[in-house]
Amino acid sequence: MPDPLANSNIALGVTGSIACYKAVDLASKLTQAGALVDVVMTADACKFLAPLTFRSITHRPVVTNVFDPQSELSIDHVAIAERADAVIVAPATANTIAKLAHGFADDALTTTILATQAPLIVAPAMDAHMYDNVATQRNIATLRERGCVIAGPASGRLASGLVGKGRLLETPELLGCLRQTLGSDGDLAGRKVVVSAGGTQEPIDPVRVIANHSSGKMGYAVAEAARDRGAEVSIVSAPTALPDPFGIKVVSVRTALQMQGALHKECANADALVMAAAVADWRPSDMSDQKVKKGAADTWQIELIKNPDIIAGITFERLVKVGFAAESEDLVANAESKLLGKGLHLIAANDITAEDSGFGVDTNKVVLLDREGGQEALPLMSKYDVGCAILDRVVGYLY
Ligand code: PMT
Repeated sequence: MPDPLANSNIALGVTGSIACYKAVDLASKLTQAGALVDVVMTADACKFLAPLTFRSITHRPVVTNVFDPQSELSIDHVAIAERADAVIVAPATANTIAKLAHGFADDALTTTILATQAPLIVAPAMDAHMYDNVATQRNIATLRERGCVIAGPASGRLASGLVGKGRLLETPELLGCLRQTLGSDGDLAGRKVVVSAGGTQEPIDPVRVIANHSSGKMGYAVAEAARDRGAEVSIVSAPTALPDPFGIKVVSVRTALQMQGALHKECANADALVMAAAVADWRPSDMSDQKVKKGAADTWQIELIKNPDIIAGITFERLVKVGFAAESEDLVANAESKLLGKGLHLIAANDITAEDSGFGVDTNKVVLLDREGGQEALPLMSKYDVGCAILDRVVGYLY
């Protein structure tokens, strides 16, 4: 399944908050993802930004005034409302949220929203005290009760100088929210998918660990692809530098044993497990409580004991199990023996010797092997697209 944003119609409402500069980036990323973006600005938003800015990015007329004779909205004031697959208001001020909660239609944006049947996402951005105000909270609760998705706000430093809740979510989170909303009726709706990601770390002492090069990108991409076709998704994540993706539960772990415990819990009611994590096969038999001093010796022997094979040990009957095999030689033969030995439905054989594939990069090249003996070599593609290809197969195993 492709990115749900590709060829979608998105109505982007921009209201009068200093955060509206971030809406420019959102409009740009949406356009790059293949969405047709109709921007509708309030009069106050136009004081912060010129409509020309959005017009230049989206290559589309920008609507600012319901009575503008040049505007498409005046010819057919429901045109944008009707063609939208989703409407997102980002940033949404307290004033616009209040108007939406009470069904006002006194400008182009509120008129569009009242006229649309598309899902509505509201991303608040305001001062912390305005956000905390009981009136705003009630208005947000009203919108939520009506099925509107409230995205954010985040906490942090605000334009007023206050530190608190009121920051507009960042573009990747808003894109994630849109993708989740557009894909909510997808072929994984009602299913739970668990993904492991990142490289486990096995402590030697309070300072040192045995680690590997996994960045977590492959696992996070699979998780996002599952979210975008309707699944409830959990990532059991070893340490990574990646931000938590929107709408996905992230369970943070460090060691293989912690990952094993968390995965058993998450998989108890899951339909599929995709194990993209690079799990340490060995751990030090003892972790020193204190930092080990360099001392006079030139060598240091550390005894290692075997970690459990996590995916082999998770045996819930309904669970579809997918592994990855990170290989530097005999790619297909080694992956095949892991597929059979670990009792998997599917394995993605991953050549980690190529520069644009495997650890750390945004692309991957895998051969998919299934337990029925099928084999498909995929071309180099984004890790998100690899995730989509894997999930296409997972859907076939679900009953
Ligand atoms: O995170 P990135 O930087 O994006 O890199 C992605 C990746 C290269 C880490 C990923 O694509 C990948 O190949 N992950 C699997 C790495 C690995 O540990 O492979 P393996 O061949 O050692 O293990 C085979 C399978 O068994 C894997 O699904 C692994 O998660 C699982 N396993 C391994 C050891 C263990 N003790 N328990 C396990 O469950």
